[in-house]
Amino acid sequence: MLKNTFSMYKIFITRHIPDAGPKALKEKGYQVDIYQKDDVIARKELLKRVKGCDALLSLLTDKIDEEVLKAAGPKLKIIANYAVGFDNVDLAAAKKYGVTVTNTPAPEVSETVAEHAMALLFALAHRIVESDHLTRQGKYHGWNPNLLLGTDVTGKTLGVIGTGRIGMNLVRRLNEGFGIRTLYSDVKRNKELEKISNAKFVTLNELLMRSDFVSIHAPLLPSTHHLISTKQFRLMKKTAYLINTSRGSIVDSHALVQALKTKRIAGAALDVFEGEPAFALRRQDSTYLQHAWSVILTPHTASATIEARQAMSKLAADNIIAVLSGKPPLTPAK
Ligand code: DGY
Repeated sequence: MLKNTFSMYKIFITRHIPDAGPKALKEKGYQVDIYQKDDVIARKELLKRVKGCDALLSLLTDKIDEEVLKAAGPKLKIIANYAVGFDNVDLAAAKKYGVTVTNTPAPEVSETVAEHAMALLFALAHRIVESDHLTRQGKYHGWNPNLLLGTDVTGKTLGVIGTGRIGMNLVRRLNEGFGIRTLYSDVKRNKELEKISNAKFVTLNELLMRSDFVSIHAPLLPSTHHLISTKQFRLMKKTAYLINTSRGSIVDSHALVQALKTKRIAGAALDVFEGEPAFALRRQDSTYLQHAWSVILTPHTASATIEARQAMSKLAADNIIAVLSGKPPLTPAK
């Protein structure tokens, strides 16, 4: 009788994730080991549990470097990172060890993150969080024509930095729904985006100078680290808002706090932070961000819908299944 080789494959998942992926892996007959505590796995535990596995399903909170690859041993074929971003994985080390790295840019995730960026944009423009707080505190003492005046989104200019699927979804929605004008900057021109919207390819400087809302959708790379810093804030309109749902370190947080304090820009909405979960900032900066009304903060939840997280789970598993079956990965990280 032929031996079922699938059953020998061992998969390690570094945290409990929505069940679509684990279910698909188990249905293949793989041995699936899931770290069950609802917390980031400790380094020591990761190095121990990864030993001898054929596939590692990691999270953006796990640092996957040469030490992990070594600890896993020669059977490891794929690191399926449960995130669109993969700055937590050392791609060069993975290449050296012949290990494939994949990410999860599922269509659902692109929709969800674009929705979240939109929600933040509107919340900034209409001062939603501040208004909610004031009302809950019993400080609404009757209609006042000057109370909490915000700004319209309709007809304004959106600047999008990075036009992958998330950036494109945001542009399409705001363009169709609110007649927003769009400027974009990217490493190269995006003709597909230009076909579906009025988006215009400009330099980053021009984008910063002309936009009312600047939304970041670029990956974190050495070239995008602190892409937005003091010099760039100086170029922005005083009435402009910054939205970041990509990676915290693309924005120099200290420069951002200075720009907000000096009213160089009108406000910011951040879903991601330098050195999260704690702000890896000077204490005064983090205190300022936590208390300023011109700032909205969400805890890296831009993709936190059931639909998106299940799609990420399934795609991570499908990548593992493809690679362990000798097929090319569906979404290689590159
Ligand atoms: C991603 O997919 O990279 C997100 O940041 C996780 O929500």
